[in-house]
Amino acid sequence: MIIAPSLLASDYTRLGKEAERAAKSGADWLHLDIMDGQFVPNISFGPGVVAAVRPHAKNLFFDAHLMCGKPEILLEPFVQAGADLITVHVELGKKVPQLLWKIKSLGKKVGLAVNPPTSIAEVQPYLAQIDLLLVMTVNPGFGGQSFIHECLPKIQQASVWRHERKLNYHLEVDGGITNQTAAECARAGADTFVAGTSLFALRNLKAAVAKMRQVAKAADPALADLAVPFV
Ligand code: DX5
Ligand code: ZN
Repeated sequence: MIIAPSLLASDYTRLGKEAERAAKSGADWLHLDIMDGQFVPNISFGPGVVAAVRPHAKNLFFDAHLMCGKPEILLEPFVQAGADLITVHVELGKKVPQLLWKIKSLGKKVGLAVNPPTSIAEVQPYLAQIDLLLVMTVNPGFGGQSFIHECLPKIQQASVWRHERKLNYHLEVDGGITNQTAAECARAGADTFVAGTSLFALRNLKAAVAKMRQVAKAADPALADLAVPFV
C-alpha cells in the first residue's frame, strides 16, 4: 500500500519544510499536482518548484500528476526536476499512446488518469502498458473537494481487470480521500491513496499517515502484504 500526501495542500510559503515534513512522516510517495490553467481551471506549480523541493525529500518517490493540455512539452522538464512517475490523462485522446511511450522512453514509470465523468472503458486499451491507473474521485483542479461516491464502481472494475489480466498496475485514488473514503476505496481494490487536505492540513502528519495506512489496511487486509515497488 502506498500513502501519497499531495503537496498541493501544503503551506506554499515554506515548501522545503513541508517536503521535509512529508519525508519524515512515513509516507511512501509525494504526489505533485501540476495544473496548467487549460486542462483544469487552476494553476499550481511547475518543474522549477519540483526541482527546488526534490533535495528536501530525497527518500520519497515523486508521483507527478499532470493535469495539463500539452504534457508533451513538460515531460523532460519534470524528469529533470526529479519525477519518478508521470501520470497523464486519458481525456487527451489520440495523444495518449505517444505520451505513454515517451514517459517510458525517458526511463520513468508511467501512469494514466481518468476523470469522474469519463468512462473507465477509455483506459482499457492501455492497461498492459501502464504502471499506475489513477481513478480521480473529484473533478480535478482544486483540493478540498468532496469525494464522488459514483467513482467507486470504476475502482472495482479496474481491480477486476487487473486480476483477470494478471496485471500489476497500482490502482490510485485522488480527491476527497479521508480515512473513511480511503477505507471505501481499499474495499473496492485501490492500493495507492493520495490525500491533500486530510493529511497536510494536520499538524501531526506522521500520525495522520499512520492512521490512514491502518484504516486502509483494516478495510482490505491483503494490502498489508503488498510490497512497495519503485523505491
Ligand atoms: C485534484 C488533485 C488532487 C488534490 C487532492 O485536482 O488532483 O491531488 O490535491 O486534494 P484533496 O485531498 O484535498 O481532495
Ligand atoms: Zn492529483
